Amino acid sequence: MEPVRDSLRPPRVVLGVCGGIAAYKAVDVCRRLVDAGVHVVPVMTVEATRFVGEVTFSALASEPVQTSLFDESSPIPHTVLGQTADLVVVAPATAQLLARYAGGFSDDLLSATLLATRAPVLVCPAMHTEMWEHPAVQENLATLLRRGVHVLEPEEGRLAGGDVGAGRLADPATIAQRVLELLGRDEVVGTQGDLVGVRVVVSAGGTREPIDPVRFLTNRSSGKQGLALAESAARRGAEVTLVTAAPLVVRPELAARVTVVGVESASDMERAMLAAAAGAQVVVMAAAVADFRPKAPAEHKLAKGDGVPEIVLEPTPDILAALSNARRPGQVLVGFAAETHDVLAHGRAKLERKRVDLLVVNDVSQPGVGFDHDTNAVVILDDAGSSFDIPLTTKSAVADAVFDRVSARLSAHERKTPQP
Ligand code: C5P
Repeated sequence: MEPVRDSLRPPRVVLGVCGGIAAYKAVDVCRRLVDAGVHVVPVMTVEATRFVGEVTFSALASEPVQTSLFDESSPIPHTVLGQTADLVVVAPATAQLLARYAGGFSDDLLSATLLATRAPVLVCPAMHTEMWEHPAVQENLATLLRRGVHVLEPEEGRLAGGDVGAGRLADPATIAQRVLELLGRDEVVGTQGDLVGVRVVVSAGGTREPIDPVRFLTNRSSGKQGLALAESAARRGAEVTLVTAAPLVVRPELAARVTVVGVESASDMERAMLAAAAGAQVVVMAAAVADFRPKAPAEHKLAKGDGVPEIVLEPTPDILAALSNARRPGQVLVGFAAETHDVLAHGRAKLERKRVDLLVVNDVSQPGVGFDHDTNAVVILDDAGSSFDIPLTTKSAVADAVFDRVSARLSAHERKTPQP
């Protein structure tokens, strides 16, 4: 039987830290969890203590660090730690730890605790790309996933030694969020991220331009990328308004942080976006706005017997242009562009024409990219001339990459603007 947790007692989380360069980031995870009211019990491998001092964790966590299976005050520390934990998180988890856990080894305090617990376990791997992609590591992960272990995959980025690739430990804010989600602490989800206190507006979906009361012109946009953007911002702490022309449902644990405004046409979307953007620091136009609409939609349903109608089209309002004209100082404006050829050149020209800070370009001629897929591959262009390549990944990871750039711009603006 699952132990029943006293809801008044703070949740107890064992934070396992392995010996990798990313061990220093576990300090930030620890601090975020303690700030969110979690009782953090740090357990370090002996190798981890070579990267970060035990004193640092002992000072920040809720209890002193434990490293040894043989503790004079507690003869069986691993069973006590395992049985009393509401969750065990390992960050960073090295290839060595994943192998020991998958193989059922228990030769140190952390691996023994992992075997002695029935609480949910979250592992956050971090290692060099070659190691991460090695079949041995991937098979160990598959074994752990099959056994119900939660895995927070590493990100792409700069690794120790200057290499760039997959294997960088997930962001500490994301790890802390995931722990809180797994603990069912929905009320504190979104209180830890780098966008706390920031108002974000995101548009999503393909607009519907009426032909008559029952027919409309639209496009293939599913709104999935817009939803992923809204959820990423909410998870990082933002207050989000999602203006959507597609029927989208926000994940329950984030729903309190996302106000969904349903719209139909480009004109509706323009009105809703201008209203929401007036109080926002970040505006992301991910919607596939129709470029043309019927000039004079029929008031009554067009009947077959009336013959084939001639539909005259006119351009829709350019919402990004209107948002750019109404932009408040310091507001970050992000546009999207679906391209099929000369992607970078078209993207760069569009960034300037649309007067946006960031333009997220996707090459929709590639398999798995863009409309209606759960995956996407993009290049993020910024107005300083830099470009960031995000190879094929989930729309959620693309959303996180966009907000990494947005967040960097917001803090740069804050640094330039002295706060009262
Ligand atoms: O020019 P294009 O339609 O490719 O530009 C795409 C970007 O412009 C997207 O961010 C889209 O949401 C926005 N857009 C807009 N209003 C329109 C058409 C596109 O805001 N009428």
